[in-house]
Amino acid sequence: MPRCGAARSKLEGVRIFPAEGLDMNVLLIGSGGREHALANAIVASPRLTKLFVAPGNPGTAPIAENVTLDVANHAAVVDFCRLMKIDLVVVGPEQPLVDGLVDALEAAGVCAFGPSKKAAQVEGSKAFTKALCDRARIPTAAYGRFSDKASALAYLDKVGAPIVVKADGLAAGKGVVVAETPADARAAVEACFSGAFGAAGAEVVIEEKLVGEEASFFALCDGRRAVALASAQDHKRVGEGDTGPNTGGMGAYSPAPVVTDAIAARTMREIVEPAIAQLAREGTPFKGVLFAGLMIGGDGPKLIEFNARFGDPETQVVLPRVADDVLTLLDDCARGRLAVERVRLKPEAALTVVLAARGYPGTPETGTEIGALDKAAALPGVIVTHAGTKRDGARLAANGGRVLNVTGVGADVAEAARRAYAGVDAIDWPGGFCRRDIGWRALKG
Ligand code: AMP
Ligand code: GLY
Repeated sequence: MPRCGAARSKLEGVRIFPAEGLDMNVLLIGSGGREHALANAIVASPRLTKLFVAPGNPGTAPIAENVTLDVANHAAVVDFCRLMKIDLVVVGPEQPLVDGLVDALEAAGVCAFGPSKKAAQVEGSKAFTKALCDRARIPTAAYGRFSDKASALAYLDKVGAPIVVKADGLAAGKGVVVAETPADARAAVEACFSGAFGAAGAEVVIEEKLVGEEASFFALCDGRRAVALASAQDHKRVGEGDTGPNTGGMGAYSPAPVVTDAIAARTMREIVEPAIAQLAREGTPFKGVLFAGLMIGGDGPKLIEFNARFGDPETQVVLPRVADDVLTLLDDCARGRLAVERVRLKPEAALTVVLAARGYPGTPETGTEIGALDKAAALPGVIVTHAGTKRDGARLAANGGRVLNVTGVGADVAEAARRAYAGVDAIDWPGGFCRRDIGWRALKG
């Protein structure tokens, strides 16, 4: 098996393998809608021999082999890769990245798409990213970082509200409070230091509230270079009109109209490229997909946060737009030899609607039966991905909060939305619900 790191350092910039025609065995890590979308893109590659997904879901079962692997046990993952002659591991979620799975694989000579443990700190530690922004002069909110409550509260007294309080570490999307009043800000600081987010809250970042429109931007990176992939926008609130509690995302669309060509170019020049160059200079090259959460205001894009992985559900709308071979792009990133100047995108837009189980984002009702997915998937321009389902004998049942993603692909966001909702309406699942207004910002004009 070629050694990823060794091959790269000896043969800087040289293609080590032919770009096409190589039989590849791939292991994809993860179980959500993002991974089903990645699996769809990977199996479309003429280079693929066999795709394994650990653990996968009922959506990936017909197109790949789902395998049971303890992903936290890095030695077990390495053993599996050796046994199955895996040429590339693609890591979907953030936790294995932050835990150092890619480091363990590369140390064993297995190539992996995703950043090392150190580079994954761009997502794993908000304080790390804020300090990186300082060193690389990346536009972001002014901030302070604190490891004790008294100094955090004293800083709040000085800066007032509105203000944003963030637990430093991974808190499953729950560690951020946009506080409109000083009392809310103090309560958020108290919650962090009282252990509400475990170790993730041992340090807090307090930052200026940015104004503008939010969007996500994805770039593929090979450690030294980055190329723009696509933009997207998601809807985090559970209710229509972007109201109610926060969720992992109720829908998304790509491209995001607010990310004009000029904003995309500035995002690459002012945010992505400086970050990649700084990380490389400091000996922590980032390879994988850099997901920049942006606030786009009057003076251009500012960084809210980085993630070290594909977004969920953004992946479900980004990958169907890619005209290039996705497996080759991922493999080239992993091997440090990204050769393309830009990723070719189809002219289409895509929009995905999340179907969630009743009760989400509180306690979702599980086990309710889902039917007629084949009817939805047979409609023109409709892709159904599984996010939280399980097989229960012959039945398909809900098994989580966000359960299905119905993606429409069309000439523009409006057509993509019509197609996605036609797919939603074809599905027979009384136990589920969705927002009917996904894409409203893109459609209002
Ligand atoms: P994060 O986990 O950092 O993405 O934050 C979650 C959400 O909080 C973001 O998607 C924004 O809506 C909001 N947010 C985070 N930081 C800021 C900020 N500095 N200004 C305004 N909104 C923010
Ligand atoms: N949809 C937001 C995320 O994947 O973090």
